[in-house]
Amino acid sequence: MDFREGLTFDDVLLVPKRSPVVSRSQTDLRTKLSRNISLNIPLISANMDSVTESQMAIALAREGGIGIIHRFMTIEDQVDEVLKVKRSESVVIEQPYTVKSSTTVAELYKHMAEYGVSGLLVEDGGKLAGIITRRDITFEKNMKRRVSELMTKNVITAKAGTTIEQAKEILHKHRIEKLPLVDDKGRIAGLITSKDILKMDQYPHAAKDRKGRLLVGAAVGVKGDYLERTEALLEAGADTIVVDIAHGHSENALNTVHMIKKAFPSCDLIAGNVATGDGARDLIKAGVDAVKVGVGSGSICITRVVTGSGVPQLTAVIDAVKAAREYDIPVISDGGIRTSGDLTKALAAGASSAMIGGMFGGTDESPGKTLVKNGKKYKMYRGMASYMASLGRKYRQEGPEVVDSDDLNDYVPEGVEAMVPYKGSVVEIVRQLAGGLRSGLSYCGAKTIPEMQRNAEFVRITGAGFIESQPHDVDVM
Ligand code: XMP
Repeated sequence: MDFREGLTFDDVLLVPKRSPVVSRSQTDLRTKLSRNISLNIPLISANMDSVTESQMAIALAREGGIGIIHRFMTIEDQVDEVLKVKRSESVVIEQPYTVKSSTTVAELYKHMAEYGVSGLLVEDGGKLAGIITRRDITFEKNMKRRVSELMTKNVITAKAGTTIEQAKEILHKHRIEKLPLVDDKGRIAGLITSKDILKMDQYPHAAKDRKGRLLVGAAVGVKGDYLERTEALLEAGADTIVVDIAHGHSENALNTVHMIKKAFPSCDLIAGNVATGDGARDLIKAGVDAVKVGVGSGSICITRVVTGSGVPQLTAVIDAVKAAREYDIPVISDGGIRTSGDLTKALAAGASSAMIGGMFGGTDESPGKTLVKNGKKYKMYRGMASYMASLGRKYRQEGPEVVDSDDLNDYVPEGVEAMVPYKGSVVEIVRQLAGGLRSGLSYCGAKTIPEMQRNAEFVRITGAGFIESQPHDVDVM
């Protein structure tokens, strides 16, 4: 047998080069997520149920990256998560949430909490009837009162097609915060809010679609409802669909890619995971717009332990990039990123972006509750092929009665459940990663990611070199 050598992040360093960069602000982290989509920073939050729902996706997109909403929920719930991102911040909210004037105060509170908004348009008979905000109900004691009695009826509106500059003037002139847009017949045609206009200034690098809405992706599986799910997610505005399967170089995955592209030719499609050039090439031939690479590299993965299969991540990326470059298709490095140095190495090896799970787990924006153990705060982070994640899935899909002890013994997990320390907001982590990457570019003598990829020179290090690279011979505070 001819043994090749597989390397990963800790096996190498990037050789420092003469650099024209004198300040990190001169660097530019823009990159391609896929054939059709660009990002302002090369970071993607993983489609895992302990990492990405709408809150994480909103935070990532505001910073310039993208979140992929996981698929371990009903189609309706996943669509809702996509809509929350799409509606969270847009220049014009095209389909604002509405209530009827017969809605009670109690129902209104529920809607406001569910949609995460502080005011709603009131629609009767297909026309704008008024506007109701939290201020109108703050001291209302009678929960049965109707919106019609409390709403503002003479609403200041503007015509569909109003520009942001015109909207700013109207909002300021009337000292109002919400400006509904209506068509000639009085039907609701959109909503512009002062909050969204302010956010445009607050998040100048946000990754947005052509309509000014935050970017978001959503995952689908390879069995069952994947076509129906894809259709609903695209309808809700998902910018990219990620076919999510552990072994992305399986006939199942290739067939799913083919079927989705056939049904929705204009859908931006990412698929994975693969760990080889052949895997990347076959997915590209099946129709993907980006290839996701990483088998067993994730922090909660035990695929390599359980199956004996996988390729160390740096080699996997290099091999996949070599194949994908022939077709000009971007590669996403997925799993195993623990530091901004790892991220820099993954990109220098040719990946256009990186997907991250563990580093983004345990944050305010990741789903799940904070747990306290020995006085320290934690959150759960688990592999999607872990025992508990799979059990939960089976339970949700088939009901509690099917989950008996035989089923449990049948399942062979390829991931683990873990606790990660609570880390506060993911924004800090994203900014540290981006800051480290900017410095990494500078050490490679590059101002952009493609330039770094051209300049990159890796040197292989020994165990002693690795030890030297860590803080050593001191007590780290
Ligand atoms: P990190 O290292 O960022 O990796 O935590 C996240 C990636 O890990 C993959 N993933 C799994 N791999 N078993 C696996 O072998 C699992 O149960 C599992 N769950 C997630 C996935 O690619 C993710 O983006």
